[in-house]
Amino acid sequence: MNDRQSAERARQTFTERFGAAPEGVWAAPGRVNVIGEHTDYNGGFVLPVALPHTTRAAVARRDDGLVALASLQHPEKAVEIDLADLRPGHPAGWAAYPAGVVHELRDRLPQGLSILVDGDVPSGAGLSSSAALECAVALALRDLLGLDLDLTDLVDVARRAENDFVGAPTGILDQSASLLCTAEHALFLDTRDRNSEQVPFALAAAGLALLVIDSGTTHDHAEGGYGDRRRECEAAADRLGVGLLREIDDVAGLGVLADGTPEGDVLLRRARHIVTENARVLEVVAALRGDADPRTIGPVLTAGHESLRDDFEISVPLLDATVQAAVEAGAHGARMVGGGFGGSAIALVEADAVDAVTAAVTARFAREGQAAPRTFVTVPSAGARRLA
Ligand code: GLA
Repeated sequence: MNDRQSAERARQTFTERFGAAPEGVWAAPGRVNVIGEHTDYNGGFVLPVALPHTTRAAVARRDDGLVALASLQHPEKAVEIDLADLRPGHPAGWAAYPAGVVHELRDRLPQGLSILVDGDVPSGAGLSSSAALECAVALALRDLLGLDLDLTDLVDVARRAENDFVGAPTGILDQSASLLCTAEHALFLDTRDRNSEQVPFALAAAGLALLVIDSGTTHDHAEGGYGDRRRECEAAADRLGVGLLREIDDVAGLGVLADGTPEGDVLLRRARHIVTENARVLEVVAALRGDADPRTIGPVLTAGHESLRDDFEISVPLLDATVQAAVEAGAHGARMVGGGFGGSAIALVEADAVDAVTAAVTARFAREGQAAPRTFVTVPSAGARRLA
């Protein structure tokens, strides 16, 4: 579906459900991060691209004090709640994401809202379907209500919805990618200073393709490992006497963490991932900015995977097998993406090797007794926008 078709579908479904046309339709994409994983809450660098897959929000104001939330992807789970009753945990489930954004902007809202959601960002795949949903609604409310908020403000609105309302302790990577990315570019973002640069990433022109492999194993940020990693990074920064691990740019500066205890060893490895990952982002950006062959970033991506696997310990055997199979089949590089403990991997491949790499990865899944992964080739796509 192109933008026009998806806007029409959202408009029609909204009208059938709420009995009047929406005031507009907005879209926001999912993302994959080329490199720079778990650096965002450490004040470091990230380099995401937006996916062609989007979440759409058709929205209209209403005057009965209610927030009505419906989703084509969750037809049994429509929600109607008094604006005044929104609070963390209420509503829960898919509706928490749009409700969190509404709650965040509640002081500036009219007497109620109807929101109809549709989308095709795979969920539970580490491709930021939740940020796409938050960002589509945040942009809609900004435009509809004429709020004096720029895109960076909206990143913060959407991220606070995720942190404070949904309860997932994430950084700003996903919301920044969804709102700030542009077509044919990767977004080089300094998450501490919030400076960003659109770095050309026209893969097709170089005969390359970025293959996304959804392993089908799910992740859940709201609990468990993600929060543990965040706390470990904070503990490491604390011991190093810095506010953020970003402030360390040489692994030689991490020696003090190695105090001979198992805990010290863990903190050293977590911090080493962040320091080396920031350096990898800078290395990839330098290659893409200059005349270097984009194939040269491949081994940097694979090194990023190894660091997530060995130092940060957030990979899973199936993602390790995915990366290994892709590289053995000729990918220039591959890595798991996103928060970890499941989700997707990316592989940088020759455009004419997509089928061979896909077949090799699929065969590997079969050998591991796993259902075939969902795969697709992505191109760096546009960020959030109004469709109608
Ligand atoms: C999740 C979080 C992001 C970021 C990534 C890891 O996607 O939402 O803030 O921390 O994991 O890079």
